[in-house]
Amino acid sequence: MKKILITGGAGFIGSHVVRRFVNLYPDYHILNLDKLTYAGNLANLTDIEQKPNYQFIKADITDAEAINALFAKENFDAVIHLAAESHVDRSIIDPSAFVMTNVIGTVNLLNAAREYWKGDYDSKRFYHVSTDEVYGALGESGMFIETTAYDPHSPYSASKAASDHFVRAYHDTYGLNVVISNCSNNYGSHHFPEKLIPLAINNIKNNRPVPVYGKGENIRDWLWVEDHARAIDVIFHQATTGETYNIGGHNEWKNIDLIHLLCKIMDEKLGREPGESAKLITFVTDRAGHDLRYAIDSTKLQEKLDWVPSLQFEEGLERTVDWYLENEEWLKDVTSGNYQKYYEGQY
Ligand code: NAD
Ligand code: DAU
Repeated sequence: MKKILITGGAGFIGSHVVRRFVNLYPDYHILNLDKLTYAGNLANLTDIEQKPNYQFIKADITDAEAINALFAKENFDAVIHLAAESHVDRSIIDPSAFVMTNVIGTVNLLNAAREYWKGDYDSKRFYHVSTDEVYGALGESGMFIETTAYDPHSPYSASKAASDHFVRAYHDTYGLNVVISNCSNNYGSHHFPEKLIPLAINNIKNNRPVPVYGKGENIRDWLWVEDHARAIDVIFHQATTGETYNIGGHNEWKNIDLIHLLCKIMDEKLGREPGESAKLITFVTDRAGHDLRYAIDSTKLQEKLDWVPSLQFEEGLERTVDWYLENEEWLKDVTSGNYQKYYEGQY
């Protein structure tokens, strides 16, 4: 039985990755390590928590002692590392938390792998899940490829870029078997409502203003989260050591166009007059250092590993809206407590 440590498995993407691995690979033992920050939620995993090949461990990756003790106890075959502080706006408020978790936390995991996998690096694998934001911002044309130079602008993307560099350095220096993927914006169920799509769904549902930064002209490239989880699966099993893969849906949307589409879907789902939800759109002060455009070229992944996105965006967005409308309790739970304080501080 393969023992795989997945970090950040109680978060948005991590929970989809954990669910996929637990369900598809009954002969893998999946240990989900998560600190359960505001973004981590075990309610994301109630459907698989009783499965015999699943185990949850509450731990903080910034705690090197705890990480080393875990590696000493469990003979992991692989790590799939997703735990991170993930929200750009929060990184603008408090960069240090991003340095601690995304940089120091990643280095702690690498150090443990280096120490406890000694003599066995080739048969082990350290998979680091990263973002397209490390490449910086595009103008009106061009796309990010795997060899695009790093040019991060936000404290979040700077911390992810630093962690990517450390992962590659442990491959080049110590021979650790590492793989990195850089993915574009994900959307889907269980997405924390601080991010654009779930925040807008929640606000439209509650007749609150939908904040659009600047003029809404920034462009993001959206991918269904389950397609990302499938890409991680394929790359984890098939990539060669030291490789990087870009993951993206070839699906660019201007924020304002996306929000109008979402308003249209919400009008239909909530039985509102056409155009009613769009009245909630409110232009607010732009994000500092706001990257204009991201676009991922995932040709390498498509051609080498035969991965293609499975879901058309309009259908995926509708499914996402349905999930939020059907899971009111989930939404209520995550937007209680500290959420209000954070939300009100933003505007
Ligand atoms: P998320 O914020 O929803 O989840 C992060 C998880 O990490 C949470 O469960 C949280 O509790 C856990 N965590 C945070 N700090 C921790 C610590 N110190 N120790 C242990 N656990 C900790 O994030 P997400 O959107 O699911 O992103 C997951 C990963 O994917 C991140 O590495 C992110 O950079 C990357 N990524 C995200 C996107 C996206 O669109 N969301 C796109 C590309 C890459
Ligand atoms: O590109 C991958 C990245 O995508 C991931 O690495 C990050 O973890 C993830 O959070 C996401 O970053 P973005 O900053 O692109 O996502 P966010 O949902 O915060 O914002 C999407 C766009 O919408 C961005 O241009 C900012 C804008 N926005 C965001 C919010 C929260 C608004 O206009 N209004 C808002 O209220």
